[in-house]
Amino acid sequence: MSSIGIIMNGVSGRMGYRQHLVRSILAIRDQGGVELSDGRRVQVVPLLVGRSEEKLAELAKRHDIADYTTDLDAALADDRWQIYADFLVTKARSAAIRRAIAAGKAIYTEKPTAESFEEALELARLAADAGVKNGVVHDKLYLPGMRKLKRLIDSGFFGRILSVRGEFGYWVFEGDWQAAQRPSWNYRAEDGGGIVVDMFPHWSYVLENLFGRVESVYAQAVTEIPQRVDEGGQAYAATADDAAYAVFRLEGGVTAQLNSSWTTRVNRDELVEFQVDGTLGSAVVGLFACKIQPRNATPKPVWNPDLADEHDYASDWIESPANEVFENGFKTQWEEFLRHVLEDGPHGFDFLAGARGVQLAELGLRSSREGRRIELPDVTLDTTPAPTASDLEAAAR
Ligand SMILES: NC(=O)c1ccc[n+]([C@@H]2O[C@H](COP(=O)([O-])OP(=O)(O)OC[C@H]3O[C@@H](n4cnc5c(N)ncnc54)[C@H](O)[C@@H]3O)[C@@H](O)[C@H]2O)c1
Repeated sequence: MSSIGIIMNGVSGRMGYRQHLVRSILAIRDQGGVELSDGRRVQVVPLLVGRSEEKLAELAKRHDIADYTTDLDAALADDRWQIYADFLVTKARSAAIRRAIAAGKAIYTEKPTAESFEEALELARLAADAGVKNGVVHDKLYLPGMRKLKRLIDSGFFGRILSVRGEFGYWVFEGDWQAAQRPSWNYRAEDGGGIVVDMFPHWSYVLENLFGRVESVYAQAVTEIPQRVDEGGQAYAATADDAAYAVFRLEGGVTAQLNSSWTTRVNRDELVEFQVDGTLGSAVVGLFACKIQPRNATPKPVWNPDLADEHDYASDWIESPANEVFENGFKTQWEEFLRHVLEDGPHGFDFLAGARGVQLAELGLRSSREGRRIELPDVTLDTTPAPTASDLEAAAR
């Protein structure tokens, strides 16, 4: 095969346009295609899909793309397109993915894969039964900072890892005197919004791939700003959580505490930052940077509140070098998925991993509602989802 056709649904959106179309598929097209293990290249051919013909035509013209359509079913029925890729709002995703599975396409999607764990697991089962290859975005793992962290872990730098502390967030404007910098559906629970649903799927794969399976979650999810103003200037009730403070217990005994917030002002080097402490050393990593402090270069602070501490703790850390060029993570994962489809190359981030992410979000929200820590059962294709709060209410009626 000298080219592969990709149905790209939701390309007018923030993620669909910037990360998936421009920074991934068009960047792969510009470099002459994806390179296979034997050195051959397979060119990518995008088909833009969306609801507005006018927007699609404009995008196609701007980027010299021959094919676009508003008819998803016709695209799915056409053998020219082997992959279905989904960047829709979360609410619209699972119905579209079900159609793509039925059409026998390989599928690559943004997270979360569905709005409920039950539905996410069902998608994983349907894809397995249909024998279609499937992948879910795990972009944070491909960030330079995270790749440097993975190297540290693999080299044994930390000794025994004790804990992980993460801060993610920034101030998202309410939309009144300055426009909000995220779409308004993010702040409406009824439209699939909420920071837990948005971020916990990321925390799920970051934690399980770097440190160990998430065994339990305790979370406090809150709505700090109850009213916001949408893209059209209309005030609306912000029904979704916009901050979540969580503690995760990981396989092997590591504790991870991660704050996710759209209502905090940044006093960090990067918008996300993790500190990992181990018996032999510690690291602080962001999207790009990674600094380390080994055990044998650790200062010895002495607690004395009567004296101002003159020590510059920040200067004790060593910057870890990249030693290679890290490409855009979305593009790198796209290339892995394309090789997975074209030559069965490795790509472990499938719908089941996506379902674990949705499960973590669902149980995080339940933990917050019930005010208790919740254990996470191991997820396989045979897992029976625990009844949801609304199932229990319906059964009691
Ligand atoms: N991987 C990441 O870091 C990351 C970051 C942000 C968002 N996301 C995920 O990406 C997805 C898209 O988020 P976004 O911020 O790009 O949103 P967006 O609102 O900018 O784009 C959503 C797209 O879906 C389309 N759409 C909206 N409603 C639809 C409907 N009812 N039917 C069909 N299409 C519809 C829109 O036209 C648009 O193309 C979400 O699932 C979100 O969770 C991932």
